[in-house]
Amino acid sequence: MTSPFLTARRLDKTFVLHAQGGQALPVMRGLDLSLSPGKCLVLAGRSGIGKSTLLKMVNGNYRVSGGQLTLHFEDGELELSALPAHAWHLLRRDVIGYVSQFLRVVPRVSAREVVMEPLLARGCDVSEARARAEALLARLNLPERLWELAPGTFSGGEQQRVNIARGFIAEHPLLLLDEPTASLDAANREVVVQLIEEAKARGTAMLGIFHDEEVRERVADRLLELEGHMLLGGTDADRTASDHTSFRQTDSGESLS
Ligand SMILES: Nc1ncnc2c1ncn2[C@@H]1O[C@H](COP(=O)(O)OP(=O)(O)O)[C@@H](O)[C@H]1O
Ligand SMILES: [Mg+2]
Repeated sequence: MTSPFLTARRLDKTFVLHAQGGQALPVMRGLDLSLSPGKCLVLAGRSGIGKSTLLKMVNGNYRVSGGQLTLHFEDGELELSALPAHAWHLLRRDVIGYVSQFLRVVPRVSAREVVMEPLLARGCDVSEARARAEALLARLNLPERLWELAPGTFSGGEQQRVNIARGFIAEHPLLLLDEPTASLDAANREVVVQLIEEAKARGTAMLGIFHDEEVRERVADRLLELEGHMLLGGTDADRTASDHTSFRQTDSGESLS
């Protein structure tokens, strides 16, 4: 078995609602996970359980409240929960790719430029970045007449395909996928499944959320089911190893425990 690239150990997340008198909203407690290169770990569980929150913690959008979230490189470890703000820019450029649920639309930036941007940020040649962006957009069946336009007026599915192309183009070693196929038709879902399979083959580690059962079964090497009772574990002091059974890990859909 290959050694993990990303691990979470006893990960906690509590939102503090400053606009509401500092009220605390605990979302996650004691999450353990381990993700190896070339594998896709799929997060499951009801809406609102914390799946997107976990991806956003790995991507540095949300702060970790407790526990460890660690990247393991050949020459050492990087503790994400302690990472200074200025380090995230490089990490997102070179290591962590993120296909968010919805495209962040920037006015006047064309779809083609949105997709090229991660390569340009690495100093890639403009003509190469352009060719690769166009190849991906064509593969995802985005009509050529749209490439020149800013995606603000695009349909949900068109925006999602721009977002997917942007996420896959730079071949990050870790890729976070938040429901990338939610608004796609069957043909484009198939393209995304193929992109995921190709990324696996080159060793990309993926952490994903997929509502579509068929997509999930095809891409998941492992399923991590987040369950609501994980929040009833009491305080840190009385938490025991058994609390971790609140995360049911399965291989190819079969229970391990
Ligand atoms: N920025 C935030 N501030 C406060 N609460 C949040 C924030 N983001 C998510 N939440 C809450 O955290 C919980 C988990 O949300 P989310 O991770 O989006 O769930 P999922 O992706 O599993 O549907 C929800 O109760 C949601 O309202
Ligand atoms: Mg979500």
